[in-house]
Amino acid sequence: MAQTVRGVVATGPGEAVTVTDVVVPDPGPGEVLVAVEACGVCHTDLHYREGGITDDFPFLLGHEAAGRIEAVGPDVTSVSPGDFVVLNWRAVCGTCRSCRRGRPQYCFATHNATQKMTLTDGTELTPALGIGAFADKTLVAAGQATRVDPAARPEAAGLLGCGVMAGYGAAVHTGGVGPGDSVAVFGCGGVGAAAVAGALNAGATTVIAVDLDARKLEWARAQGATHTVDASNEDPVARIREITDGHGADVCIEAVGRPEVLEQAFYARDLAGTVVQVGVPTPDMAMPDIPMIEFFGRGGALKPSWYGDCLPERDFPTLVDLYLAGRFDLDHFVSETITLDEVEEAFARMQRGEVLRSVVVL
Ligand SMILES: NC(=O)c1ccc[n+]([C@@H]2O[C@H](COP(=O)([O-])OP(=O)(O)OC[C@H]3O[C@@H](n4cnc5c(N)ncnc54)[C@H](O)[C@@H]3O)[C@@H](O)[C@H]2O)c1
Ligand SMILES: [Zn+2]
Ligand SMILES: [Zn+2]
Repeated sequence: MAQTVRGVVATGPGEAVTVTDVVVPDPGPGEVLVAVEACGVCHTDLHYREGGITDDFPFLLGHEAAGRIEAVGPDVTSVSPGDFVVLNWRAVCGTCRSCRRGRPQYCFATHNATQKMTLTDGTELTPALGIGAFADKTLVAAGQATRVDPAARPEAAGLLGCGVMAGYGAAVHTGGVGPGDSVAVFGCGGVGAAAVAGALNAGATTVIAVDLDARKLEWARAQGATHTVDASNEDPVARIREITDGHGADVCIEAVGRPEVLEQAFYARDLAGTVVQVGVPTPDMAMPDIPMIEFFGRGGALKPSWYGDCLPERDFPTLVDLYLAGRFDLDHFVSETITLDEVEEAFARMQRGEVLRSVVVL
C-alpha cells in the first residue's frame, strides 16, 4: 500500500517551497523505502527551486540524507529493513560504457527508483538528484542506499550524501591532492569547507581558504586552513601567489560555480597544476575568456568534478569511520537542525552566508 507522507515541494521557478502531502509507493523490484532521519539543505536544492537545473517542476527537494531502510523490493539483497544508510545519487549500473571500462565513478546510467512519487492528485514529482529526501519517507533504487556504521548521528552522516562528499572528493579524488601540496579552495560553504578537510586529510601542507564572507573564513581557519583570503577586499590571485612563494597553488578548487572565480582559480595555479571545478554553473554562464596560449603554457589540467568522483560504496563507510575515529569532523558542517517547515528560511540563511549546513531532522 502506498503511503502519504509530508514532503517539501517546489512548484515553480523562484516560488517559495511548501510542505505538501506526497504519495510514496511500496518498493518494487530494485527499490527500497527509506524512513528519512536527517537531510541537509544543499545549494543544489536552491538551484532546483530557481529552475536552474531542469524545468521538470514540481520537484521533491532534499538529497543529502541518512535514514533507516523500512522496506525492500522483492529482489533486493544489498540492504535489509532496519539498516542505517546514507543515500547517494551514484548507484552505479555496472554495464554502461564507462563502468565497462573500469571507471564506475563516472557511470553514465546510474539507477533511481522506477516508480514515481506523486502529489495526492497523481501529479508526478521529480525528486532532486533522484532522491527527494525532505520527506518523512522516500523511495530510491537499492543501490542509492549505502550502509554505514549506525553509531554515526544521522545529521552528520547524511551530509556525505552530497555536498561534503563532493567537496572532499574534489580535493582527494579529482584533484589528487597529496602530501606537501598547496591547495587553494575558492568558496568555503559546505562544499568548499569539505574540500579544505579533504586537502588536509590528504596531507596538503598549505591550504588557502578564499571567500567573500568573513564567517566562512573564520570557520575554515578553525578547520585547519593555513591561510585565508578575503576576496571582497583583496585580489585572490595575487595573494595566493604571495603565499606560495610567487608560484601559485598546486591544486585550485572552484566551489562557487561562477566564471570569474574559475578564472581566478586558473591564474592562481602553479605550472602543471590542477583546477577542479566543483561549483555548479547556471546555463547562462560561459567559460572565462582565457588566451589559448595561457591554457597551453601553464599545462596541468582543468577538471570538472561530478560528486567528487566518489564511489559511495567505497567512500561513505570510510568517511563515517574516519568521523567516528575523530579524524574527520562532520559535526563541523551541521550549523543548525531544523524542521521540514523551515527549509525556505534555511535557503535564505544559506544565501546570507550564515550557515555551512542547515539540516532537517525528521
Ligand atoms: N559538483 C558537484 O557534484 C556538486 C555537489 C554539491 C554541490 N555543488 C555545488 O557547489 C557549489 C557550492 O555549494 P555549497 O552548498 O557549498 O554553497 P554555499 O552557498 O554554502 O557556499 C558558497 C560559498 O561561496 C562563497 N562565494 C560566493 N561568491 C564568491 C566569490 N566570488 N569568491 C569566493 N567565494 C565566493 C559564498 O560566500 C559561500 O560561502 C554550488 O554551486 C553547488 O550547487 C556541486
Ligand atoms: Zn554505469
Ligand atoms: Zn547537493
